Amino acid sequence: MSDLLIRPGALADLPRLTEIINHYVVNTHITFDLHPFTPEQRVEWFHEHSDGRRYQLLVAEMPAEGVLGYAATGRFRAKAAYDTTVEASIACSPQATGRGIGTQLYRALFALLAGEDIHRVVAGIAQPNPASNALHERFGFKEVGTFTAVGRKSGKYWDVRWMERPLLL
Ligand SMILES: CC(C)(COP(=O)(O)OP(=O)(O)OC[C@H]1O[C@@H](n2cnc3c(N)ncnc32)[C@H](O)[C@@H]1OP(=O)(O)O)[C@@H](O)C(=O)NCCC(=O)NCCS
Repeated sequence: MSDLLIRPGALADLPRLTEIINHYVVNTHITFDLHPFTPEQRVEWFHEHSDGRRYQLLVAEMPAEGVLGYAATGRFRAKAAYDTTVEASIACSPQATGRGIGTQLYRALFALLAGEDIHRVVAGIAQPNPASNALHERFGFKEVGTFTAVGRKSGKYWDVRWMERPLLL
């Protein structure tokens, strides 16, 4: 993994990032979107996760393989007192899971955010998702609780486990 480059995401990455998320949209319960996106439909998402301060988007790239994953922070809820809480999201391409890339992305993301005016980082993980549970636990997230059956996809209801951590441990 020594060749892995972690860098800020750019608009030019959107086709590849959309391809990655669409795999999980179409084939899994992991994200509650029901229909795949076009890259154009992800432009708003890109800007919501790229303000250069609290909201950051990092991508992981290998020279021979291109972009293999991303991690990002975005707004948690709209009301102003939530400003200091961000919601984290992360995904690696299906061929790139279990290779430590998620760990490197989160390590870089938390390092990047360390000086920002953020008090809590939260993550909602649709269950089951052992890899995401393990990654968030590794990064110090603690379980807050599980909303049961809050999402319906592929004819089933799915639970979401919410986790949180302070920005700095
Ligand atoms: C979740 C995800 C980002 C984790 O990234 P990753 O690169 O696969 O994970 P890493 O290889 O860095 O491993 C991180 C931890 O997860 C564990 N892990 C990885 N895959 C696992 C699996 N399938 N089952 C159980 N644990 C797993 C690793 O052992 C490691 O734990 P440790 O630090 O205690 O040893 C990645 O698997 C992914 O993109 N999954 C699909 C999309 C997704 O679920 N996104 C998150 C939505 S909330």
